[in-house]
Amino acid sequence: PRKIILDCDPGHDDAIALALAHGSPAIDLLAVTTVAGNQTLAKVTRNARAIAATFGLTGVPIAAGADRPLVGDLIVAPDIHGETGLDGPALAEPTDPLDARHAAELIIDTVLAHQPGEVSLVPVGPLTNIALAARLEPRITERVGEVVLMGGAVGPGNRTPVAEFNIWADPEAAHIVFGAPWRVTMIGLDVTHRALATPQVRERIRALGSGPARFVEEMLAFYGGAYRTHQGFSAPPVHDPCAVAYLIDPTMIATRRAPITVELAGAATRGMTVVDLRGPTPAGRHRVALDLDADRFWDVMIDAIARIGAD
Ligand code: BDR
Ligand code: CA
Repeated sequence: PRKIILDCDPGHDDAIALALAHGSPAIDLLAVTTVAGNQTLAKVTRNARAIAATFGLTGVPIAAGADRPLVGDLIVAPDIHGETGLDGPALAEPTDPLDARHAAELIIDTVLAHQPGEVSLVPVGPLTNIALAARLEPRITERVGEVVLMGGAVGPGNRTPVAEFNIWADPEAAHIVFGAPWRVTMIGLDVTHRALATPQVRERIRALGSGPARFVEEMLAFYGGAYRTHQGFSAPPVHDPCAVAYLIDPTMIATRRAPITVELAGAATRGMTVVDLRGPTPAGRHRVALDLDADRFWDVMIDAIARIGAD
């Protein structure tokens, strides 16, 4: 199995990414770290611990990280994720204690405790913790297998006409992450907007009948309503598990090499991911995701949820 650290801001789709990482036999989840984004750090950390309790995820360290972006103010997303950051289902009382380390320290310790190339990072929130870890211990940027992040877009954004939320929320951090020497694969909106929780998908999840499946369905009920009201989607896109899915089976997501830079200065374009798709594919450390096999994605996702229920 692929060893990963999931850095997240749960968040409904973050919670579904956690379900996939925990349930899939192809993933070995080494640590979970949290970052302010969809809601405040206190709320998303509480949510991560509640999700862990619901999914029976024990013995995996959870550490809290940055409570704001590197530059500027924290702006959260209650329109999509509610006041708690995970509105909808009743949240369980956390069982395991929070790890005492800062998320950046837990990331560094975990990467250095493994062989070069063994651990991959899967950031599915603003990139603040990942940037801090890279600055604090630059050796990790040579040692991480790859960074597979949910964020950015080739086409339209969702927070602004050209910027996706995770990149827009901390563009300086994203700039650091794309500029570091590790391999980065960007799973952006072009792909995640194809991972739609349709009524058919939700029926398959409901039919599993387990507690974790019910929890996922209750999240999708709130999240689907929010996406309908605020973004005009008839079925909600589950962004974050797409990054985990890529590590489970990279053939599920079509990618190509392309240099990516993050716009920091533009008055109308701050937080935009500028993806250079011109000409023949260059060598380089960046890949961009372009397409998703949605049927296979949901098969893998539903199989993972079913395994959690069977634990
Ligand atoms: C991203 O923003 C958050 O609201 C989601 O959790 C996802 O990580 C999508 O733009
Ligand atoms: Ca997220």
